[in-house]
Amino acid sequence: MLIIISAAALPKINLNWVSCIYNYTSTEKRSELPSMSYKPRNFAGQATSNRRTAYSNNTNTFDPKMYTVVNKIFKFLENRDKTRICRVIGTITNWTGVTENTNLAAAMSSIYQIVKPVIDSQEIQKSEDRQDFITGKILDYIHPELVVSTEAKDWRLVDIGGGNGNILSGIQTRLAGPVDNYICVENQSGWQETYAYSNANIRYLFWDNQELSGLADGSVDVAFCMVSLHHMTDGTISNILAELSRVLKPGGKLLIKEHAATPDNLKYILWEHHMYHILDVTIGGSPGANQSAWREYLERSINNFKPADEWRSLMEQTGFKFGERLNRFLDGGFEPDPRNPSELYWDVYTR
Ligand SMILES: C[S@@+](CC[C@H](N)C(=O)[O-])C[C@H]1O[C@@H](n2cnc3c(N)ncnc32)[C@H](O)[C@@H]1O
Repeated sequence: MLIIISAAALPKINLNWVSCIYNYTSTEKRSELPSMSYKPRNFAGQATSNRRTAYSNNTNTFDPKMYTVVNKIFKFLENRDKTRICRVIGTITNWTGVTENTNLAAAMSSIYQIVKPVIDSQEIQKSEDRQDFITGKILDYIHPELVVSTEAKDWRLVDIGGGNGNILSGIQTRLAGPVDNYICVENQSGWQETYAYSNANIRYLFWDNQELSGLADGSVDVAFCMVSLHHMTDGTISNILAELSRVLKPGGKLLIKEHAATPDNLKYILWEHHMYHILDVTIGGSPGANQSAWREYLERSINNFKPADEWRSLMEQTGFKFGERLNRFLDGGFEPDPRNPSELYWDVYTR
């Protein structure tokens, strides 16, 4: 099935998102596509007789890549509901247009209506499986490096935009070392998910988007920016990279996890964020699920997605030396992967 969505002229994006990514484990599995006997329906819910027409000649198209994204986030839903969500998303053509976000807000509201009863009836909770999984992958990657490059176990690790710090906390549990050497850097201004900042085995540093106060020059072994840079303005990105260059030891590592944004995959990246936000709101009950709250989310959060080469240029301009580009699990090369429509990848740099 061929889906053509023109995204050539993308408006400047200053969208938003907030929700943290809870559970990637579903993406490890090949997504379960709806059965071929699925009967296409138009948005009004009427069955259509001609699949080709239903799928290719109107905006209500079924997009298997979008289904993969829906399945990643709402894996607990039945295929029928995941397909309904795809159809809601298929009605949105101007998915980058925050200025016309009434339709987007309405679509988010419709998706919420589909998801909420299931979350309520099945008492779905936030899952930390994904964070445990990625903690293991990070340890597999960095641990040999740290052991070889330093003698004492006084490694200092910094996680920029680490959220509640669960990943850093998991790393501290395995690597041990002083609590003060595991620093989760966050910023609570603007529109974003609220966290409990509840891990006692790490330190939280709330910075001002200017300086990493209290972190001495050349004092950090490894820094991570895991799907956090794209929630910062260009000015803040420039500040954090300059600060990371200052605080990392010569030879220290900077690991960034980002989306390799292109005009073609932007809708998957955006909807992945929107749907994580819906999940957050539905499970967490905050900051509300009415239309104006969806609009506020769309207007206030920052989604500063960039192509992979642009991220690399920014790092290199700051003086970081490119090491390697890896897949989203840090365990192999980054290649096109139908299970990864939002094209997440890691880049590793040396200070
Ligand atoms: C998608 S979450 C990622 C959380 C965590 N890194 C993970 O992978 O689970 C993005 C995080 O970036 C944080 N963030 C956004 N803007 C920030 C800023 N200016 N400084 C520090 N953190 C920021 C948010 O608070 C949020 O925790």
